[in-house]
Amino acid sequence: MQTCGGQASSALACELPVTRYEKEIVDVVKKNDVVVIIGETGSGKTTQISQILHHAGSTEFGVIAITQPRRVAAVSVARRVASEMKVCLGEEVGYSIRFEDRTSEKTRIKYLTDGCLLREFLSDAELKQYSVIILDEAHERSLNTDILLGLLKRLCGRKSPDLKIVITSATLEGEKFSTFFFGCPVMKIPGKLFPVEILYSTQEPVNYIESAVQTALEIHTQKGPGDILLFLTGKEEIEKAIMKLEDRIRQLEEGSCMDAIILPLHASLEPELQVRVFTPSPPSCRRIIVATNIAETSLTVDGVVFVIDPGVVKQHQYSPMTGMYSLVVVKISRVQATQRAGRAGRTRPGKCYRLYTEAVFENELPPVTMPEIQRSSLAGAVLHLKSLDLKDINVLEFEYLDPPSRSSLEDALQKLFIIDAIQEDGSITHLGRRMAVLPLEPSLSRMLLAAEEAGCLSEALTIAAMLSCESLFLPSPKKSASHKRDLEFKSLPDGMGLGDHIQLLQIYEKWHEDGYNAEWCKEHGVKIRSMMFAREVRRQLSQIMKWEDKGLSRYRRKDPKMLALRKAICTGFSNHLAHRMQQHNGFRTLGAKTHLVQIHPSACSMEVDDDGLLPEWVVYNELVNVGRPFIRNVCAVKGSWCQPALMKLSKLSVTKLGGAQSSTLPSVEKEQKVEKPAIEPLSATQKDLVA
Ligand code: CDP
Ligand code: MG
Repeated sequence: MQTCGGQASSALACELPVTRYEKEIVDVVKKNDVVVIIGETGSGKTTQISQILHHAGSTEFGVIAITQPRRVAAVSVARRVASEMKVCLGEEVGYSIRFEDRTSEKTRIKYLTDGCLLREFLSDAELKQYSVIILDEAHERSLNTDILLGLLKRLCGRKSPDLKIVITSATLEGEKFSTFFFGCPVMKIPGKLFPVEILYSTQEPVNYIESAVQTALEIHTQKGPGDILLFLTGKEEIEKAIMKLEDRIRQLEEGSCMDAIILPLHASLEPELQVRVFTPSPPSCRRIIVATNIAETSLTVDGVVFVIDPGVVKQHQYSPMTGMYSLVVVKISRVQATQRAGRAGRTRPGKCYRLYTEAVFENELPPVTMPEIQRSSLAGAVLHLKSLDLKDINVLEFEYLDPPSRSSLEDALQKLFIIDAIQEDGSITHLGRRMAVLPLEPSLSRMLLAAEEAGCLSEALTIAAMLSCESLFLPSPKKSASHKRDLEFKSLPDGMGLGDHIQLLQIYEKWHEDGYNAEWCKEHGVKIRSMMFAREVRRQLSQIMKWEDKGLSRYRRKDPKMLALRKAICTGFSNHLAHRMQQHNGFRTLGAKTHLVQIHPSACSMEVDDDGLLPEWVVYNELVNVGRPFIRNVCAVKGSWCQPALMKLSKLSVTKLGGAQSSTLPSVEKEQKVEKPAIEPLSATQKDLVA
């Protein structure tokens, strides 16, 4: 049985800056439809504003929604608030993230990812169940939050008069939100941040991990008490740094300094391990928390006195020109650097060690972080907007806080056109509408719909569910994961060599045959948690698609169903086609721009012909740039299946060829200046696509 909250001390909450402004917050929300609240990270915006409004009666006629850009944060703060309110999680206080809903009839305060709220617009365009929407962590400028800003702005204009909107931000960008919302009031909550001394490096480090570890050790051995927060870019780096730290601390002379507890903090950490960072350190013990930028604003770790900031962050960057995602380590912005430093001064004066020079800070760090909308693929967002039937606007005129580039929108529209989500005249198709309802990337949704028609939905559901897992395979110490995986599954009689999708299907089916056994997972090097997640996702997707599960059955390689399944995968990913070179195993991607790529080494081994050549045609999930362009999650398909997509592609390029600029899509800037009509005339097709 679950025990209800109650362990958390509410004494802490009473001291938070936000709680001291309880009356003012209630007042300003009562008097205004939209309010921006700015407060330092850790001042209590996420955990307290919802409770304050709840106690003031805001939940009598509706639920308070608080959006979070990150899943981890939604779960962790909901848990915290439930415990502060001494209620069971999922009752008065709950959360909803993709594929996991922990709310009930009783829920009055609901933490949810911004993506989830966006999805709710589909079933209720006026969000009638809510009395207050708190767009939290707006400074993070996630793609979904940016789209929500635009949608909520539209809602304010026409709205049900009772909906209140609160936008919270940890940075002064708050003013920008206010301008966007017709100059709504901005309430600034003074933080009680202690002074933080900034110490710059005198030279750029050769290796920032090494330099960070060294700095942490120096602090640990030479400075007084206080926890250390060290920012790195990802899980691997964190694990590496922790190993180094543990090693070197072990070598210190016993009793020469206090004990150290070293803790990782990143989004893919198991939830039980995540909560450890919220437990204060025992006396005469120093915690060293090695975190990704999740600790920059989303999660506040108390007790930190020393911050080590190497000045970098790992960022997904999508280039609409190449259709390629790259996960790159980039310099943080000055706003981020300030945020990171601030983490050191929460309980008493602190120090921030910047592992870069002052000149770099001044001259090389960009002033603000680039919003996600300007560095993501927009296919999903555009499909969403199209499916909302915002009749009075087209996607280019939609009010974005910072508009995405014209090429991004163009890229999204083309992708959607190729997978039949929109027609040539830009209107959303019946298929497109059904795709928008599924909580998946458009291509995966399209694959499911094609599979439904071809009678192989059960298998496609499994594939979609397996692809929704973040990481499936346990790290294998010796050989590369793919090698191990191939060994493990070599014994499968059929279907090998057709690609990753089919292999994922087979892994799931084997697990199913084995009675969803945990031991089986261990033996085969897959994560049980991920498999359970896939099973749950599969169940939910089946429900949404009204698919009655009659159990799984395995298919032979030559089974017509296997062929139908691959064809469905091809239809879904037909905007991600690649054709093999004649003489070697390089591939050329097809699209508005083509690229020479290789199949990513993590892919399962594909079947080769007598000349050692891979299948001639493949579709892929992702095109990534990791030093070189690679395609990932690949499925062998037949050339004849690609014809419809190729036809559409050629149509697009024909329109493009129709004369320099004149036939391309209008630029966003031009479209948004309503007073000035677009100078360049559009071709009929282009005009329609954007409508
Ligand atoms: O949103 P904001 O950054 O303004 O602050 P918050 O997330 O509401 O955090 C307020 C306080 O609650 C901080 O001192 C956090 O450390 C604490 N907290 C916690 O102990 N456990 C959580 N899961 C969330 C917050
Ligand atoms: Mg917060």
